[in-house]
Amino acid sequence: VLSPSSGAETVAFHGPYQAGITTPAQSHLSLVGLDLREGWTPDDLTRLLRVLGDDVARLARGDGALADTEPELAADPARLTVTFGIGPDVVATLRRTAQLPELAPLPAFSTDRLRPAWGQTDLVLQVCSDDPVTVAHARRVLGKDSRSFATVTWVQDGFRRARGSEAAGTTMRNVMGQIDGTVNPAEAEPDFAPLVWKDGPGAWSGATCMVVRRIEALMDTWDKVGREGRELAVGRRLDNGAPLTSAHEFDEPDFEATDPVTGLTVIDAASHIRRARSDDKSQRFLRRSYNYTVTDAQGRDESGLVFIAFAADVDRQFVPVQRRLAEQDRLNEWVTTIGSSVYLLLPGVPEGGVLGDGLWST
Ligand code: HEM
Repeated sequence: VLSPSSGAETVAFHGPYQAGITTPAQSHLSLVGLDLREGWTPDDLTRLLRVLGDDVARLARGDGALADTEPELAADPARLTVTFGIGPDVVATLRRTAQLPELAPLPAFSTDRLRPAWGQTDLVLQVCSDDPVTVAHARRVLGKDSRSFATVTWVQDGFRRARGSEAAGTTMRNVMGQIDGTVNPAEAEPDFAPLVWKDGPGAWSGATCMVVRRIEALMDTWDKVGREGRELAVGRRLDNGAPLTSAHEFDEPDFEATDPVTGLTVIDAASHIRRARSDDKSQRFLRRSYNYTVTDAQGRDESGLVFIAFAADVDRQFVPVQRRLAEQDRLNEWVTTIGSSVYLLLPGVPEGGVLGDGLWST
């Protein structure tokens, strides 16, 4: 007897915002960076998005794409979402003839050790589902349908716990063993909308920006750190993610509390959470990262985080925080950023609407 499955669960493609941003994170990620073919025009991009948007609208509800060669693989979407974004060069080109929000490339940060293989691309497709077969099928369909306009430059696969391994809503653990994602703006808060959604110009209301940082975790040296050192580096407990000054994961950290013996603050001033927290409440963003592990030809594993953050204004909200972390963060000893890119994510597609329509062409 088969037990009930969650494969039939869907996330609506249409709505005021794109899916895959506030969607509770699915188990699997395939982040696809594409570059447009030389000589592309804004009309080419419109045509490409029209086709891909139609594919995703169908796949997200469990139907095969048009001319799908394996429609059976589409039957279990398992909360499939595909989220579309464009890079700074594309934004700059489109801004010559249309009203678009600005998007600057990320500045260089002193701790970055960027590898060209994980650099900026023209387009990004964030494919997420609770089922890896669904992700693979969606990627195949989208790959075939974008081939005449664009080439795939990199794919960053990521994972979290399998659906059902933990209670829904449990904060994820990263490959370093930490509970990661506790302090994050919640959709229900009044602050959330201005932190995450753009309010224009024109049809761009409901757009946002996405920061992608590929961050390698140096597991060999991390292995040499005891639990106390690991907890000190972040400022939180490993077992339940509570701040070192408290008992429960969602308690507020007390950054002033001192150790009666040493007189030092319990949460170190250079710990990750102290450095990442701003007094300026506008310097916040939505984190929705995934773990990765890849193995090279010599059999060496490389693990880390496909760090993904959403913010209405990257320069105002994200850059100051990343600058502060680059300046000082105990965690820097064990993590290295090896990839970096930034995208303007399109606003949502209204019911009956078409992805990309009315954003830069008439
Ligand atoms: C591999 C790299 C990283 C690891 C392992 C990591 C891990 C963590 C952990 C364990 C926490 C505490 C739990 C939580 O609130 O999520 C945390 C908090 C946080 N991290 Fe990271 N992080 C990394 C990179 C980054 C980067 C690149 C940024 C942004 C530039 C960032 C921004 C934050 C913020 C804003 C918080 C919440 C701080 C607060 O309590 O207000 N992290 N991170």
